[in-house]
Amino acid sequence: VDKKDAKVLRLALLGYGNVGRAFTALAGEKDAELQARYGLRLVFTGVLRRGGGWRHPAGVAPADLQASGWTASRLPAGATAFAGDGADFAAQCPADVLIELTTLEPLTGEPATSHVRAALAAGRHVVTANKGPIAHAYRALRALAAEHGVALRFESTVLDGLPIFNLAEFTLPATRITGLRGPLNSTSNFVLDRMRMGWSQERAIVEARALGIAEANPAYDLDGWDAAVKATVLANVLLDTDLRPQDVAREGLGAEAMQPALAALPEGYALKQMVEVERDASGAVRATVALRALPPGDPLAHLSGMETGILLHTDTMGNVTLLEGEGGPGQTAFGVLADVIAIARAHGVRSDR
Ligand SMILES: NC(=O)c1ccc[n+]([C@@H]2O[C@H](COP(=O)([O-])OP(=O)(O)OC[C@H]3O[C@@H](n4cnc5c(N)ncnc54)[C@H](OP(=O)(O)O)[C@@H]3O)[C@@H](O)[C@H]2O)c1
Repeated sequence: VDKKDAKVLRLALLGYGNVGRAFTALAGEKDAELQARYGLRLVFTGVLRRGGGWRHPAGVAPADLQASGWTASRLPAGATAFAGDGADFAAQCPADVLIELTTLEPLTGEPATSHVRAALAAGRHVVTANKGPIAHAYRALRALAAEHGVALRFESTVLDGLPIFNLAEFTLPATRITGLRGPLNSTSNFVLDRMRMGWSQERAIVEARALGIAEANPAYDLDGWDAAVKATVLANVLLDTDLRPQDVAREGLGAEAMQPALAALPEGYALKQMVEVERDASGAVRATVALRALPPGDPLAHLSGMETGILLHTDTMGNVTLLEGEGGPGQTAFGVLADVIAIARAHGVRSDR
């Protein structure tokens, strides 16, 4: 595809941390491939972080953004500094898509929800890896997106870029997901795995922190709050309900529950902190986070260390299981890129398949 024939998609990036930087790097790596396969050219018309930001109406190519070595004091050539807050940026940055990658605030979902709302109301598509808006305001945001004829995509909110929401939307047509389960908290997976190998819990937590998988406060992981937020996102989207993280039952969790549960584990079984979502006979959706002993035949029992996965119960395919090796910002960035490509394809960009 000739460069001038490529469709340009203008991206505004809100949040430039681990995932934001991994995404701009991936967009740079895939730049030529996106043009060749999809006739698609991505440019950044603005980036904002807490420390400051800029706008560039014509847009900066991914490689130029990286080469610019942008810091708050040194902007890419032709850019002007942006002084407003995240919601101002989402509303005002001249872009087709807002990419929302700010820090998760699990109890309220703010200010990310306000960022997403401002972008949708301004007629921009939104891609986010931030669970907050989907856990706390999915129905309202979905309605706002529909009202403005734009897309709201969030593949990377759960299990990095592993295709869960895109699988359900694009490749499980006319299917009802009736329940799901998975060990979705990496820190708990890792700590239980190492304790099983004989490590002390303290050493396992220190190591999880050193690997960058544990929250600063490990209770957030071990007490099930991280998993409860993920359960809420999955339940609200895949089982079309309207839960909040506070509605998720968290049973028998916490650091002190792990050693006794491991000691009581039958031979050959695996102990996991599991998210479980199911619809009961009355139609109500119930979500739980609990330590569970998985029998050896369970497809999720053999996941070790930082591996994770999810099992979906469907009315067409029976159980569908997805497994992820080691996830991280690179995989999360892939999920963001997959969402951007899905938006481009739905809006007239040539498909290669
Ligand atoms: N890391 C992963 O593998 C992963 C996986 C799945 C989902 N996620 C989600 O992806 C999101 C980003 O994760 P991350 O690891 O990249 O986080 P991070 O490294 O902490 O980066 C967060 C970025 O957001 C900016 N920011 C925070 N609040 C802001 C505000 N109010 N206005 C403007 N900018 C703001 C920060 O600005 P400063 O740079 O100035 O501090 C920083 O650039 C989070 O919601 C996370 O839960 C991450």
